[in-house]
Amino acid sequence: MSVVKGSTEQINNSEPLMAVDIGGLILKNPVMTASGTFGYGQEYASYIDINRLGALIVKGLSLEPRKGNPPPRIMETPCGMLNAIGMENIGVRVFIDRKLPFLRQFDVTIITNIFGETIDEYKKVAEILSPLEGIHGLELNISCPNVKRGGIAFGADPDTAYEVTGAVKSVTDLPVIVKLTPNVGDIAGIAESVAVAGANAISLINTLTGMSVDIEQRIPHLKNITGGLSGPAIKPIALRMVWEVVNRVSIPVIGVGGIMDANDALEFLIVGARAVQIGTANFINPRATLDILEGIEHYLKRHHIMGINDLIGTLIPEGET
Ligand SMILES: Cc1cc2nc3c(=O)[nH]c(=O)nc-3n(C[C@H](O)[C@H](O)[C@H](O)COP(=O)(O)O)c2cc1C
Repeated sequence: MSVVKGSTEQINNSEPLMAVDIGGLILKNPVMTASGTFGYGQEYASYIDINRLGALIVKGLSLEPRKGNPPPRIMETPCGMLNAIGMENIGVRVFIDRKLPFLRQFDVTIITNIFGETIDEYKKVAEILSPLEGIHGLELNISCPNVKRGGIAFGADPDTAYEVTGAVKSVTDLPVIVKLTPNVGDIAGIAESVAVAGANAISLINTLTGMSVDIEQRIPHLKNITGGLSGPAIKPIALRMVWEVVNRVSIPVIGVGGIMDANDALEFLIVGARAVQIGTANFINPRATLDILEGIEHYLKRHHIMGINDLIGTLIPEGET
């Protein structure tokens, strides 16, 4: 009944229904910030109304503060950027003391992105954050090197991806989103592993490893030599990977990678992503998230689509060869 009532109201005022369910986490709309590109929210609060976001995902948090890599650690490339920040962050306890009180004043879903160098570290960060008021979900960044397995990323091996997901699930009641690295051969296989381990949702993609050289000095532009590529250059790859994953797992998938405007976001939603994250676009236009949200709403109205859920996963695969 409530669905019919909602639909009728929505025809009358012609506002599309935008809420999405991400593994039990109900977001007011499908537009989220991507971790590491929106700080801890404070940095953007004077530019946009934070309350309008579907969710705010904070910069990745580790058990102890980290200084990250030495500079230069950002390099602009054609249609994108390379970063080798090296997971610099204030650490989970300083986040709780100095950043969480600010975030609590908003009516917005807060998701903490977490990482570690060992499975135990992931568990500890999850245990510390889970009981706290104002934190609604965890996103596991499994692109990080596993020091106990020779530095191979947790997300590069299906067994380790399974293990870290299961370990965090065992210590939290919060919805757990696992964020996949694209630097693998079989992304759908990794997705399947984390789904079996109990992930409530999957987000993808993190950055693609790349590099850039100063030909005059014959040195790498980044002190770290390699960095993570983000921005429009990676969008077709992200879209293809999202499509592969939605066809393999039944848990919700969140699309990330090179989304600069509403049309980009719509591609991900049509392919089957239930929400999108906006990353590099925030550096160019601090209002990008809300511009994208408004653009999606406009598209739904223009196509007489009642709500976002009627659009998600409606790709007509006629282009298949
Ligand atoms: C400067 C920078 C810092 C990032 N930090 C994190 C992080 O702490 N945790 C994480 O999971 N992803 C991090 N990412 C990856 C983004 O969240 C996102 O997955 C990636 O940039 C692709 O999206 P985009 O092309 O829209 O930027 C970072 C990206 C950038 C550019």
